Amino acid sequence: LAPNGSAAYERHTAELTSCIIAFLSPILPTEEEYRIKEATRRQLERLAARVSPGAKLLAFGSMANGFALRNSGKKDGEPTTKHTASELVEILGQLIREETDFNVMPLPKARIPIIKISRSPTAELPYEISCDIGFENRLALENTRLLLSYAMVDPPRLRTLVLFLKVWTKRRKLNSPYTGTLSSYGYTLLVLFFLTHVKRPAVLPNLQRIPPTRPLSPEEVELNGHNIYFYDDVATLRKEWSSKNKENVGELLIDFFKYFSKEFSYSKDVISLRTEGGLMSKDTKAWTAELCIEDPFQMGYNVSRTVTKDGLYTIRGEFMRASRILVNRSGRVSAAIAELCE
Ligand code: CTP
Repeated sequence: LAPNGSAAYERHTAELTSCIIAFLSPILPTEEEYRIKEATRRQLERLAARVSPGAKLLAFGSMANGFALRNSGKKDGEPTTKHTASELVEILGQLIREETDFNVMPLPKARIPIIKISRSPTAELPYEISCDIGFENRLALENTRLLLSYAMVDPPRLRTLVLFLKVWTKRRKLNSPYTGTLSSYGYTLLVLFFLTHVKRPAVLPNLQRIPPTRPLSPEEVELNGHNIYFYDDVATLRKEWSSKNKENVGELLIDFFKYFSKEFSYSKDVISLRTEGGLMSKDTKAWTAELCIEDPFQMGYNVSRTVTKDGLYTIRGEFMRASRILVNRSGRVSAAIAELCE
């Protein structure tokens, strides 16, 4: 092992960075895939408008936050309020089933009622589509906008790290909130916390703590009792924020894995992006879950509430395995990445 900061370590992490970029490039969505998804969004919006005239369907999650891999996406309907979300799930689900060739699975009883739809690739439409349709979920649109703003502050590093972690967590089966592990959204918050609050100098500013430079309307500050303010003038930020941290993606990734293998105190701390230091104690919040990640806007919501004791044990074991593989310089770096994601 070469020590951090040595020339050999620099060379190793630089090579790791190029290999990660090369590894990701064939699995990023193409322009054509975005076009097809946009056409699908319009098709579904027309169907939604038959249920609620004037309904709008807006993309959220990876298709709109800058962190998309092939075949991912979410949509949010914004209907008029005649029906409850559960009713809309039933009604629109039925309509989509009748009028399109999507597989449709309505989940009217979920915490946030959604319709899951999917379609296998065909000769004419060579992309799998798999997405969730939710209703009046403005907070999801706002947290999508927050993630997108972060993605735009330091696209090369943040985006590469998040995309790589998404692939890795999916390949290693660590991205399954239904079976005790964490959502992509949760992993993205871990990366944001690491780059904003752990790394010194920080790679990213805390957008929720930069004061506004213009008067804000009440709707920009509050939504359903939650403070949704964050500094979103990305053009200005890109001019004015230049991180003193010059570490490359390879170095950041190794340190991310090390930090979450050994340093983060899972038993005591809650990750809280919006705060000055990024951490709160579980005691203060009276939270007892295995892993605690406070949602950036919904302070009472633990994004990682799905992570079980076994799930966390697996995830931490995988963080350790990952740091071991990435610092080992005995073989080819591209082979190490393949092994890591096998
Ligand atoms: N979301 C949320 N709370 C969660 C999980 C997700 O509010 N516990 C919302 C967020 O708006 C997030 C979106 O749902 O941006 C999509 O989450 P997720 O599926 O985890 O992320 P994607 O980037 O869409 O990832 P994937 O491609 O794995 O579906």
